Amino acid sequence: MNIIVTAGPTREPLDPIRFISNRSTGKMGYALADVCARRNHKVLLISGPVSIVPPRNVRLVMVETADEMFNAVRKSIPWCDVLVMAAAVSDFKAKYIHPGKMKKRDMRDILHLKRNVDILKAVRPRKGKRIYVGFAAETSNIIQEAQKKLKEKGVDLIVANDVTMKNSGFGTDTNRVVFLFANGCIKKLPLMRKTQVAGKIIDWIEDQHGNDK
Ligand code: CTP
Repeated sequence: MNIIVTAGPTREPLDPIRFISNRSTGKMGYALADVCARRNHKVLLISGPVSIVPPRNVRLVMVETADEMFNAVRKSIPWCDVLVMAAAVSDFKAKYIHPGKMKKRDMRDILHLKRNVDILKAVRPRKGKRIYVGFAAETSNIIQEAQKKLKEKGVDLIVANDVTMKNSGFGTDTNRVVFLFANGCIKKLPLMRKTQVAGKIIDWIEDQHGNDK
């Protein structure tokens, strides 16, 4: 299969020095890209700024902002069979990016922000027979919140996790996730290494793809 995996955070500049971002380290997305490549799928890894070593045998495109990530994803939709959005896309960006450093004497205590594009929602009309997988990073009401995302984003699978739990979420090597499928089924997985979670996700994708033929 031709698989796009997005990973890491995006960074939204405020001026040449400062940015808004989040705690994603890219580990889950990189593990997914690695497992896909090891299983001989063709992988396009679209990554925000991270400091981990990229997997072998993937095409790597580094991006900075949500808009750049959107453009990279959009361009490759016709090529792909599967899109896995593991990236933690920043939901907001600065209304104005200052061309020079903002001096604190001129700064107020309010940042003016505007919403970023929702990449999954934006590529939803082009889904066709492609398999779309999203993630949901939550801190409470995990299942309900993930169910909302499953519907709103029109994906086949949402991989939800509680990022406040020990050994789960940002920066850890392990994750405890729940799979929510478009047909309403829910599957809770035990705490596992992120590479094992990646294996479970790819197992399901391979099954789906096989069934579709
Ligand atoms: N996502 C996306 N574009 C965005 C934000 C998120 O495509 N602008 C994708 C993520 O890659 C992930 C899924 O949508 O696969 C859910 O992301 P998450 O950050 O959990 O949710 P949000 O849609 O940002 O909603 P909220 O912040 O309200 O929980």
